[in-house]
Amino acid sequence: MIELQNVSFSYEGHRALNDISLKIEKGESVSLLGANGTGKSTLLKLLCGIVTPDSGTYAFDGREITQKALKDPKFSKQFHQRIGFVFQNSDTQLFCTNVFDEVAFGPRQMGYDERAVEERVESCLSLLELQDYKDRQPYHLSGGEKKKVAIASVLAMNPEVLVLDEPMNGLDPKTERWLAGFLVELLSSGKTLIVSTHNLELVQEISKRAVLFDSTHAIAADLQTHRLLDDIELLKRVNLVDKYYHRHDDGGHGHYHIHNY
Ligand SMILES: Nc1ncnc2c1ncn2[C@@H]1O[C@H](COP(=O)(O)OP(=O)(O)O)[C@@H](O)[C@H]1O
Ligand SMILES: [Mg+2]
Repeated sequence: MIELQNVSFSYEGHRALNDISLKIEKGESVSLLGANGTGKSTLLKLLCGIVTPDSGTYAFDGREITQKALKDPKFSKQFHQRIGFVFQNSDTQLFCTNVFDEVAFGPRQMGYDERAVEERVESCLSLLELQDYKDRQPYHLSGGEKKKVAIASVLAMNPEVLVLDEPMNGLDPKTERWLAGFLVELLSSGKTLIVSTHNLELVQEISKRAVLFDSTHAIAADLQTHRLLDDIELLKRVNLVDKYYHRHDDGGHGHYHIHNY
């Protein structure tokens, strides 16, 4: 589904991705781990076509994603329908005056008639338990509610691949639990998930596979999640856990001391 070969990317001379090669199959769930500034968000943006490689190639379902390819409106529309991006900061994603229009935005852009739009919006709202929020202003919702609306608006496009940038950020523990369960459900419904996070508990819950970035913006490890989480020396080396870190064995639910994020 997704194949990166030797991809590098810089923001005006400032390196953000360094020789990244990565293959993700349909239906897989992959978590991206790494300290702040290692390139996780940039990789997610690249997967969604917000930035394109300076060198190397990115292919989505066999088709190379380049500036030129994305300039073709038909291709671009199709591509953006197939891979949906939930931004780290919901405020950059939500811009409509009410929740209904927010979730309806994508389907309307895709040219569905208003009845089909309504059906999709209703089903996404109920999936996210947002039926009572239709007329609310996204701007005034809580962080957790905004995240749900952002996810609903992306799911309304029915993407095959869902990309989430630090989805747990700023959520209370109850909403965190809910979201972890929701992502597992999405996965079992056949979606491909790619999630960046610092939340090591979430990683082991939703992804069998974890990709770790280091400070050179390269991939330091691409492993089965449990093997990565067991490699304490590696986690320390990339500053994902602090020197007081230890992993309790309490039936699969590890406890982590995460370095001030
Ligand atoms: N818009 C931008 N302009 C310039 N540099 C950026 C921009 N966004 C990110 N960077 C830099 O690129 C590197 C990777 O950033 P990012 O992908 O946001 O990392 P992460 O998501 O892992 O925290 C960092 O050094 C960051 O400072
Ligand atoms: Mg980031």
